[in-house]
Amino acid sequence: MVNAAPLIVSHGRVRAVADTRRGGSYRCRLVPGVPVKRYVWRILVAAVVVLVLVAAAGAGVAWWFNRGPGFERECDRLAALAATRPGMVVADIGAGSGRMAASMAFRIGPSGRLFATEINEVLLQSIRERAAGQGLSNVTPILAGESTTGLAADCCDVIYMRRVYHHLTDARAVATSLYSSLRPGGRLVVIDMWTPDRLPFVRHGIPAETVRSGLERAGFQLERQIDRWSPIDYCLVFRKLVREA
Ligand SMILES: C[S@@+](CC[C@H](N)C(=O)[O-])C[C@H]1O[C@@H](n2cnc3c(N)ncnc32)[C@H](O)[C@@H]1O
Repeated sequence: MVNAAPLIVSHGRVRAVADTRRGGSYRCRLVPGVPVKRYVWRILVAAVVVLVLVAAAGAGVAWWFNRGPGFERECDRLAALAATRPGMVVADIGAGSGRMAASMAFRIGPSGRLFATEINEVLLQSIRERAAGQGLSNVTPILAGESTTGLAADCCDVIYMRRVYHHLTDARAVATSLYSSLRPGGRLVVIDMWTPDRLPFVRHGIPAETVRSGLERAGFQLERQIDRWSPIDYCLVFRKLVREA
């Protein structure tokens, strides 16, 4: 017997209409009414809100660590780790726009000297302008090369490099140059990012072991390794040993 009247099944706000007109078997089709459209809009709006919140949280965390209080705290920790004191000679290798170099230059005072090296001449100019703008007379910008720091031999008490080692195209030569520029007994601090296999959201980095072996080959001795320097960075502290008499 053929049933001509459609059967309407309701579940929540979605309605399905079934009819038996085709060979007695049921064919169902959803009836997209106003309530279904409202659900789709709610889901879309919720997805957009979640995306905006995640992006804002990411930007907030990046600001905190790169420009905000987290950055100054990192400078404090670096200064303590490297035992910097007023009057010391310190080098920032690959100083970028010079934000950290300026912070360290304040710490070593006018009797100290901060060499800020860069391979990029535009950034070198930014360092110059930042130092002048902040009234820092103890900052000396230095043009680095692919294979050399550009620093004189035995000129520094402390050298640090933050997020630079993984950019080096001739790491072996730079390591030799770093070793030559550091005074015996001085410290080299390397901060760099873990690799994407460990932190999938970072785009680049270098394993701490690669940095360690490269610098040990140049003569440095590892003093300390901090795996969680920041959410994405580790920190290695090396020493150039005092030569035996
Ligand atoms: C990711 S940025 C880090 C800048 C800064 N150290 C910081 O933490 O904000 C890497 C910097 O290293 C510089 N750089 C790359 N190779 C270099 C080299 N051989 N000598 C000096 N600087 C280098 C780049 O020009 C770039 O400014």
